[in-house]
Amino acid sequence: MLERKKILLGITGSIAAYKAALLARELQRRGAEVRVVMTPSSIEFITPLTLATLTGHPVYSDFTENRDSGEWTNHVELGLWGDAFLIAPATAQTLSAMVTGACDNFLMAVHLSSRCPVIAAPAMDLDMYQHAATQANLEALENRGVSIIQPDSGALASGLDGKGRMAEPEAIANWLENWFQTKAPLNDKKIVITAGPTHEPIDSVRFLGNRSSGKMGFALARELQSAGADVHLIAGPVQLNDPSGVQVTRVETALEMHAEAMKAIKSADIGIATAAVSDFRAKTTSKVKWHRNEMPTAIELDENPDILYDWGKQKRDGQILVGFALETDNGIESAKSKLKRKNLNFIVLNSTADPGAGFGTDTNKISIFEQNGKSHTFDLKSKDAVAHDITQLILTHLPQ
Ligand SMILES: Cc1cc2nc3c(=O)[nH]c(=O)nc-3n(C[C@H](O)[C@H](O)[C@H](O)COP(=O)(O)O)c2cc1C
Repeated sequence: MLERKKILLGITGSIAAYKAALLARELQRRGAEVRVVMTPSSIEFITPLTLATLTGHPVYSDFTENRDSGEWTNHVELGLWGDAFLIAPATAQTLSAMVTGACDNFLMAVHLSSRCPVIAAPAMDLDMYQHAATQANLEALENRGVSIIQPDSGALASGLDGKGRMAEPEAIANWLENWFQTKAPLNDKKIVITAGPTHEPIDSVRFLGNRSSGKMGFALARELQSAGADVHLIAGPVQLNDPSGVQVTRVETALEMHAEAMKAIKSADIGIATAAVSDFRAKTTSKVKWHRNEMPTAIELDENPDILYDWGKQKRDGQILVGFALETDNGIESAKSKLKRKNLNFIVLNSTADPGAGFGTDTNKISIFEQNGKSHTFDLKSKDAVAHDITQLILTHLPQ
């Protein structure tokens, strides 16, 4: 269940830090990719060399990699890399720093930069764990959405007996698997999304294109990735950064997008076509820029392949296909006919007639028509919120 999951493992200065080596191994054994960040005090308990050797990746505990050259480690990139940030063991000190937002070591900077869910496995002596301050910190973190893996009861390093011992590595790995399954309902699903416009060259500088910004497809990629899916985004020419944790293939033309999309759909459970693919391309193009007097007065066009139609023709049992229709009027009939013709599970209709909807905007107003005849209309929302609504509907279409 942890296949391809990116786990950022934070280690802090507890005697239980030696168990982090076993934990890293266990997570990797279950298919996860592990990167380690350590607090300076944890280095007293277990060496970065051990963790670097086990994970096969450098371990970070300091902002600067090489003081002489001024090289520094990018805590933001690392913070954005993980599907989950697991702090195990988590000391009383680090839990307290997480509550206040302290940023006095590299691990805490990664904590503030991370966008993924944070999970902490406390480890400390009985009295430290029971202290009102620690309990208040744990409660504050839970209220903020941090998940706490409860410590075990038993013999503690101090000689005391009671609750405070970090959960065993195998139990933490089991906990993570369950968590990914319930919190990340698309955990084992591969999804391909097309996004943005295509540019069909006329000469070396001119092209046929459209105003699609790619924002809807990118919002969906982020939302589905955070629901656990393995997302492959095939994007036309757009001015958007790669969403974290998503495989992105950049293409230019409809033919390139078609080739990539047909390859990717073969192993995908779900295909979502948000791209505004040009229906036509110029029959002949020039490798150099045409001067004004060389420009033809008419450009002959060839029809481009229809990605969604071709996806529909190869649709496997249980595969889910979602199309988008952008219409300039209300377009319901046209969307419904596409739904059938292209063998889709559902189609999302947005209309440029609605203010704030369609190309380029950060908001969208959609209606959805399902193959089973059901339809849904939604208010104007941010594209992130629209992506959430679409994801919820996809969940209802998953084969049981
Ligand atoms: C031998 C030894 C064991 C320790 N074990 C723990 C522990 O299990 N839990 C804890 O909260 N602090 C423990 N501490 C105290 C922390 O190392 C100390 O609070 C440190 O500042 C934690 O910093 P960090 O959270 O940035 O790693 C221990 C200290 C020593 C010397």
